[in-house]
Amino acid sequence: MTTRTLCRLEDLPPGATKGFRPPKGGFTGLFALRDGNEVRVYVNACPHLGTPLDWAPDKFLSSDGKNIVCSMHGAEFEPLTGLCTRGPCHGDGLELVAHTIEDGAIVVAADAAL
Ligand code: FES
Repeated sequence: MTTRTLCRLEDLPPGATKGFRPPKGGFTGLFALRDGNEVRVYVNACPHLGTPLDWAPDKFLSSDGKNIVCSMHGAEFEPLTGLCTRGPCHGDGLELVAHTIEDGAIVVAADAAL
């Protein structure tokens, strides 16, 4: 399987989020978050309209840092499950992307969210 390295773990400290554009450009990409030692990678597309969630580069969380929030209409998602708990897509979920940690880096399949 061809893989893609997103970033090193030390570039994603606990409580941080980081966005990744598709390698060849495009509208959506991926984002990663770290909650303690847990890492999640999601497709950066809101289930409501499919638009990117970030409200500024690498900014995906609500002001209190407890939830992922969509910049368009304020839907909120649980960080570790991607489940929408509030907003127009309540009950839907973000698309989780399988990842591995290899030599301290976050790695996904090369064709994830292209
Ligand atoms: S596009 Fe995300 S809540 Fe509407």
